[in-house]
Amino acid sequence: EKGTYAHYMLKEMDEQPAVIRNIIQHYQNENGDIELTEGVRSLVSEADRIYIVACGTSYHAGLVGKQLIERVAGVPTEVHVASEFGYNMPLLTEKPLFLFISQSGETADSRAVLVEVKKRGYKALTLTNVAGSTLSREANETMLLHAGPEIAVASTKAYTAQIAVLAILAYDIARANGKKLPFDLMTELARVATIMDSVMAQKEIFEQLADKFLKESRNAFFLGRGMDSYVGLEGALKLKEISYIQAEGYPGGELKHGPIALIEDGTPVITLVSQPNTHLNIRGNIKEVVARGAVACTISMEGMEHESDSFVLPRVEPLLTPLVTVLPLQLISYYAALARDCDVDKPRNLAKSVTVE
Ligand code: F6R
Repeated sequence: EKGTYAHYMLKEMDEQPAVIRNIIQHYQNENGDIELTEGVRSLVSEADRIYIVACGTSYHAGLVGKQLIERVAGVPTEVHVASEFGYNMPLLTEKPLFLFISQSGETADSRAVLVEVKKRGYKALTLTNVAGSTLSREANETMLLHAGPEIAVASTKAYTAQIAVLAILAYDIARANGKKLPFDLMTELARVATIMDSVMAQKEIFEQLADKFLKESRNAFFLGRGMDSYVGLEGALKLKEISYIQAEGYPGGELKHGPIALIEDGTPVITLVSQPNTHLNIRGNIKEVVARGAVACTISMEGMEHESDSFVLPRVEPLLTPLVTVLPLQLISYYAALARDCDVDKPRNLAKSVTVE
């Protein structure tokens, strides 16, 4: 039930710190070590490459997951949109593992791929929020998101839960392979939960930003580089699905290859600046769009901030920034939809789970 909340989406955004803490509890043993089932461990240990398959927001979590698995665990990983997989079938290695990411566990496009790869005798692992869902039952193994029911059509807490569970998976593979771990994951996830609390306690700021930058606009850009570019895609999806503002997420470097033609006086450009290796280049992109009339809403991270930024997040390990950088984008989208009198929980033309291909 949504209780005192005006919308499920608001409630579910607010639940994100608790979901992260819940995930820590479920995937940690008494010694503080990551604990996965033997079934999951043997599936991933046999794989020479991981093929992530998902749709929508879950696909965006998959993009972050690829970076986590490759950089932390060193296992080659690809990410595919489920509905395209059949046409643009990648070359498969000898021992592929298919990793399905699906909040509902019922998405028909993803299931079609699962049916096909099982027919060919390949193994599958499903990350889902719903125990007993179709994708969970039909895969060899399941990792649960432990996010609690997600009712709002716009996915929020499932996205952050998926990234946290993907990080845990990446760390477990890395440990099994004797890799050096870049930082203590569970400690950093606990810190992330605290930072999430602090962002959620400052909602009025994002309400004001939505009013200032998006209430009256027809379109918007979300820019970032590296990890931030993936989160920008998710920000653009959130905004378009609930506020009906046309939104594009772009890697900063791609701007000059076409989309900068769309920048005119007053075009809102929402930029993430959270990656130490890209923050100087993305600042250059902000200057380029502002010089062409754009209004810049910049969400940055401590150590990379400018005084003109709209919001500065506390510093988080670069591999985990999507867990916190997405919150301002979710909140700005929510308040933009409210300001435009949209039905936040049930946007037009959309269903919570898409059970047709
Ligand atoms: C966006 C959204 C959709 C879903 C997509 C996949 O807010 O909700 O893009 O993420 O339909 O759904 P699942 O994760 O249930 O497979």
